[in-house]
Amino acid sequence: MMKFNWSTAASATSVLKCGGEADLREVRETLKEWEAPFLVLDSEVNSLWSEDLQPLIASSSGIYVMEAREVLKNTFTLSQIWDSMAAAGITRDTPVVVIGGGVVCDTGALAASTYLRGLRLILVPTTLLCMVDACLGGKTGVNLSGAKNQVGTFNPAEVVILCTAFLRTLPDREFRSGMAEVIKTALIGDRELGSMLQGHEEPGGEELLNVVTRCLAVKGRIVEEDLEDRGSRMILNMGHTVGHALESCSGFHLSHGEAVGLGMLAEAAMAVNMGGDRNLPQEIRSLLRNAGLPTETGPDIPLDELESLLTRDKKSLRSGRIWALPFGWCDCRLVCISSEEEKGILPGILRLLKV
Ligand SMILES: NC(=O)c1ccc[n+]([C@@H]2O[C@H](COP(=O)([O-])OP(=O)(O)OC[C@H]3O[C@@H](n4cnc5c(N)ncnc54)[C@H](O)[C@@H]3O)[C@@H](O)[C@H]2O)c1
Repeated sequence: MMKFNWSTAASATSVLKCGGEADLREVRETLKEWEAPFLVLDSEVNSLWSEDLQPLIASSSGIYVMEAREVLKNTFTLSQIWDSMAAAGITRDTPVVVIGGGVVCDTGALAASTYLRGLRLILVPTTLLCMVDACLGGKTGVNLSGAKNQVGTFNPAEVVILCTAFLRTLPDREFRSGMAEVIKTALIGDRELGSMLQGHEEPGGEELLNVVTRCLAVKGRIVEEDLEDRGSRMILNMGHTVGHALESCSGFHLSHGEAVGLGMLAEAAMAVNMGGDRNLPQEIRSLLRNAGLPTETGPDIPLDELESLLTRDKKSLRSGRIWALPFGWCDCRLVCISSEEEKGILPGILRLLKV
């Protein structure tokens, strides 16, 4: 088994690779290091992998099974997890193991970081997005009054256990959503990964594990510098400013990954207007196509609605909004753009996405 270590005092997390084997034996073996953990488990993973997870469940000190729906990522579910922890009588030395995608990992990690003022945390991501992004960097959170991630902490997991075998049961659309984050990460910090992706339809097996660990290496580097997201970490928002607005504007007809892919395309075009690499939008388009992601919005998206959603984006400052724009491969820059300037630019962005 291979082991990575990001070891700054603030973000120390060990990442253990358990390979892409047919079953989860290695994951179970690895987890034996943490005796009688409390489990927070994605309900879909629980039913699809029940036989493999049974021994783990049998040796746990308690379990909370959560349905991974964004609307359930809230304070009510959080308090239900706390109640289950209390009912199980867990103590400060009980480790918490969270197994699931980003929704369950964000919620379970927040419960672990707050119950009894913080318990040891082990994350086992089961979606591609969670493997390449959400499992690392310490952001925990739940939504409040419909607004995303309004309550949370920075609490890096002690250990992340990677097992790409889980991805065999992941629905295709979820897999593609994760690929958008892979492309984003390559664009931000790994040109070679970008070239690898250009030559392939869809990575699989060992290659997939390699893709995941390369993404985590990039994210690990960025997070180490700015764990609490006060500056440089914001470059990880690339594609997300337009992406989030498109996601809502489409009435969630576009998935998160599909919207982020389109967002990257639009934001690369914005960077071209400011002197960025002219070939980049076309390269992104071809990477998105390769990954089976859309390069056009499809349904009509009203510009005024998109603009109003963008002005509500949390990255707005009085002087303007901070955009994380890709000027080239491994050259993502934080740029402050005033609302007046944005008004001039946004119609062009929308036209580009409808080409
Ligand atoms: N903490 C962070 O840094 C961070 C970063 C990015 C995203 N996020 C959060 O992640 C969430 C999205 O996470 P996601 O994309 O992983 O989606 P998700 O957690 O909603 O999971 C998607 C679906 O896949 C199912 N699923 C999970 N693993 C499966 C498997 N192996 N086989 C079959 N089905 C499986 C789930 O039950 C769910 O229905 C959002 O809430 C977002 O805010 C957090």
